[in-house]
Amino acid sequence: MLLQLQIIHGSTVSRIGLGTILLLLFLLLCLSFYCIGDDIYRPNDLFGISCGSSTNFSTLDTRNWTADIKFLSPTHQAVAAPPLTPSTQQGPYNSARLSQSQFTYSFPVTPGPKFLRLFFFSTSYPNFDRSKACFTVQAGPYTLLQDFNASLNADADDDPGNTNVLFREFCVHVGDGERLKITFIPSATDSYAFINGIEIVSMPSYLYYTNPKVHTAELPRFVGGETYEVDNNSALETMYRLRCGDAIIPASGDTGMLRIWDVDTKYVISQSVESIDFGHKTNLSFTEKTPNYTAPDLLYRSLRNMGPNASINISFNLTWRLPVDPGFTYMLRLHFCQLNPLVNQSGDMIFLIFIQDHLVENMVDIFSWTDKQRGVPVVRDYAVNISAKGNQKKAYISLKMRPHPQSKIMDAQLNAIELFKINDPTGNLAGPDPDHLPQTPNDQMSTKKNNSTMRTLVSVAGAVSSVVLFSFIIAFLLIKRRKNVAVNKGSSKKYRTSRGSSSLSIPTDLCRHFSIAEMRAATNNFDEVFVVGVGGFGNVYKGQIDNGSTTVAIKRLKPGSRQGIREFRNEIQTLSPLRHPNIVSLIGYCYEGNEMILVYDFMDHGSLRDHLYDTDNPSLSWKHRLQICIDVARGLHYLHRGAKQVIIHRDVKSTNILLDEKWVAKVSDFGLSRIGEPTGISMSIVSVNTEVKGSIGYLDPEYYKRFLLTEKSDVYSLGVMLLEVLSGRQPLLHSEEKQRMSLVKWAKHCYENGSLTEIVDEELKGKLAPQCLRKFVEVALSCLLEDGTQRPSMNDLVELLEFALQLQDDVVNCAVESPVNFEDVQ
Ligand SMILES: *[C@@H]1O[C@H](CO)[C@@H](O)[C@H](O)[C@H]1NC(C)=O
Ligand SMILES: *[C@@H]1O[C@H](CO)[C@@H](O)[C@H](O)[C@H]1NC(C)=O
Ligand SMILES: *[C@@H]1O[C@H](CO)[C@@H](O)[C@H](O)[C@H]1NC(C)=O
Ligand SMILES: *[C@@H]1O[C@H](CO)[C@@H](O)[C@H](O)[C@H]1NC(C)=O
Ligand SMILES: *[C@@H]1O[C@H](CO)[C@@H](O)[C@H](O)[C@H]1NC(C)=O
Ligand SMILES: *[C@@H]1O[C@H](CO)[C@@H](O)[C@H](O)[C@H]1NC(C)=O
Repeated sequence: MLLQLQIIHGSTVSRIGLGTILLLLFLLLCLSFYCIGDDIYRPNDLFGISCGSSTNFSTLDTRNWTADIKFLSPTHQAVAAPPLTPSTQQGPYNSARLSQSQFTYSFPVTPGPKFLRLFFFSTSYPNFDRSKACFTVQAGPYTLLQDFNASLNADADDDPGNTNVLFREFCVHVGDGERLKITFIPSATDSYAFINGIEIVSMPSYLYYTNPKVHTAELPRFVGGETYEVDNNSALETMYRLRCGDAIIPASGDTGMLRIWDVDTKYVISQSVESIDFGHKTNLSFTEKTPNYTAPDLLYRSLRNMGPNASINISFNLTWRLPVDPGFTYMLRLHFCQLNPLVNQSGDMIFLIFIQDHLVENMVDIFSWTDKQRGVPVVRDYAVNISAKGNQKKAYISLKMRPHPQSKIMDAQLNAIELFKINDPTGNLAGPDPDHLPQTPNDQMSTKKNNSTMRTLVSVAGAVSSVVLFSFIIAFLLIKRRKNVAVNKGSSKKYRTSRGSSSLSIPTDLCRHFSIAEMRAATNNFDEVFVVGVGGFGNVYKGQIDNGSTTVAIKRLKPGSRQGIREFRNEIQTLSPLRHPNIVSLIGYCYEGNEMILVYDFMDHGSLRDHLYDTDNPSLSWKHRLQICIDVARGLHYLHRGAKQVIIHRDVKSTNILLDEKWVAKVSDFGLSRIGEPTGISMSIVSVNTEVKGSIGYLDPEYYKRFLLTEKSDVYSLGVMLLEVLSGRQPLLHSEEKQRMSLVKWAKHCYENGSLTEIVDEELKGKLAPQCLRKFVEVALSCLLEDGTQRPSMNDLVELLEFALQLQDDVVNCAVESPVNFEDVQ
């Protein structure tokens, strides 16, 4: 379930296991619409081996793992051991096979090409020090890894989700009557070899290996040469398997070979847009040359393209840059599929492809390539030799595309990229270990961050309603929490921050302290009749303090919850210094014995969500909805810019917007919020080193894909909320037909089709000024741009929304309005 991926780290190329995948996977599995693996290809051989384990088990991603002992050669001296720090990821990481002398696994497989996947968890094991793991791995005649220093490779990885897991995928061809033997050889007398998991999966004969019967014209093109063949004597290492412009496809979503299709975001270096999904209206037609197991159907329905950049600058290139090891030949596979309804004939969209700045295609016309049919997937393979220059340790493969000057549509597009390293003439596939970098710029950055005011905080507190969504988030936070506890620290650059401190330093001058007796008195000993909200964190009560003169909301965290303490402290520390009409006020807290209680201003009208859908409350008028949106933007602007520190809320959604007795909206729930230093620049990156938190349906893709948390993540979530306010429905509705399931996608679709009124709440139909509607949707969609830098700031949003309100007013002044159910505010 891990993915191989390379990242640039200082001057090093390092391949890592991406810890976040567990999270994404979990999300995706939960959003069950996402990945139902079509069992298109059924592998003859499928071994999932948990090394050192004596039991069989399966993981969330449907992988099955069995004990390893029967595949281990009898003479081995390898021991089985559990890691000293448990792994934070699902997979074969709860045990390892370790030895200071060589050991071999032998698998009875059918002849043909196989995926061979290796899973490592770099940590200390009883009697095996983490830093002493250094070994070579051979499979048949191939050297897959050479003097592989596992801890060094794990540390060279600066991915925040990384938890010392390393993953490698290879392709090897097994001949008739052979067994697949995998040997682990310690590099020196004091070092040892280890392995946590091995997976072997058959693949179709000519999926990546070249069919000897194929016509020369269809052979992979050799950049700067003629053609190339990947023959059965070759072994391959998967360097990248990237889906362009959309979310990851996990192993369970593959065509039966358990491949993971990662996002390409990290490797795109030019501006580009992620195109809107072309949906599922058109059935794809796979062909003999591109059979249905080539890649998941889903992959061909979304793509990355150039968008408006192309028409602005004709020589603009859509560019990817992939770090690789020098001294090898690589096979690059590009996946295309034309589903664009605007492409109806040859020449409508033609573009050029450059690899390493060589023009390899001077006229890509996908439509012509596929016999003038839309929805026909097609792949093209290229080979490129990356020579080693001096003792240079890293190199890049660049891929560029740009429209042909005669193309009718000025665009270029790509669905997926696969890149494989091919063994050198000695049978070697191993690249050098990454440089050891004691203090890279990245280290300095994160050290600085550690010293800053950032807090590592997790929240299980949250919305007052929406219990279903809630328990779901809790589940994932709990999983993540287990991770936090177990994060193995081998290196200075890992995220340490103030997680350890447990004293409750609370600015008591700003925040009143209540005794438990006062709290009991306020709620008649927490009488159920005063419960106004229930969440995973506990109950919210309506209470009276100061002899009944003030009504307050009392949020009582589940007594004794040790986890709750961080969220509790975060909420108090973040919220108590804040004063703004559109931020809910924290009156005080109670922290006594097991009790953790927060006391807020009481909000008469509950949450915004309570007035949008699934409710008996009367519908809000459009103007009031707009006013609420403006309030929210103002409150968030204050968080982003007005307070001493930049505060990123991280959980903007309709259930966290509360309405007071005058219908003024206030942002609430700071359990997930984060504080960063103000930077004065347009975006403060508070942390790239954090776990993804927030609510499904509202999450900024830049945040969950790249761990880039900025104020613009709140802008994104607000964008989702704006659409929610307009349409009176939740962001994700599984009961809806596919196209409408995601509110964001549906809105984009309607906007492009000029059918905006479709998404307007039934209650509002006919009551919106068309200009106002258009403006509002444009504003919302601008918040939802993939690239955070292009989204408006919160301040811009306040103005834009006020302008939208103005547009509505202009019309109302010369027409009749309006379904008012309360008086105007502000
Ligand atoms: C995949 O293609 C093969 C051969 O064309 C066909 O027999 C099979 O039914 C297809 N599978 C699916 C799930 O479409
Ligand atoms: C685990 O699975 C293997 C292969 O399916 C089987 O042979 C073995 O008996 C199983 N072991 C246990 C402990 O269930
Ligand atoms: C794991 O085992 C279950 C039950 O035997 C099976 O349904 C599933 O397909 C297996 N998973 C894989 C990836 O083979
Ligand atoms: C692995 O690399 C680390 C960091 O450079 C080093 O401290 C350790 O000694 C190396 N291990 C071996 C066995 O060479
Ligand atoms: C797509 O395929 C499904 C099932 O094979 C079929 O019911 C449907 O009519 C097809 N749609 C189109 C547009 O061809
Ligand atoms: C696009 O790439 C080609 C090939 O490398 C190069 O000649 C051209 O200058 C690039 N265009 C821009 C605007 O960089």
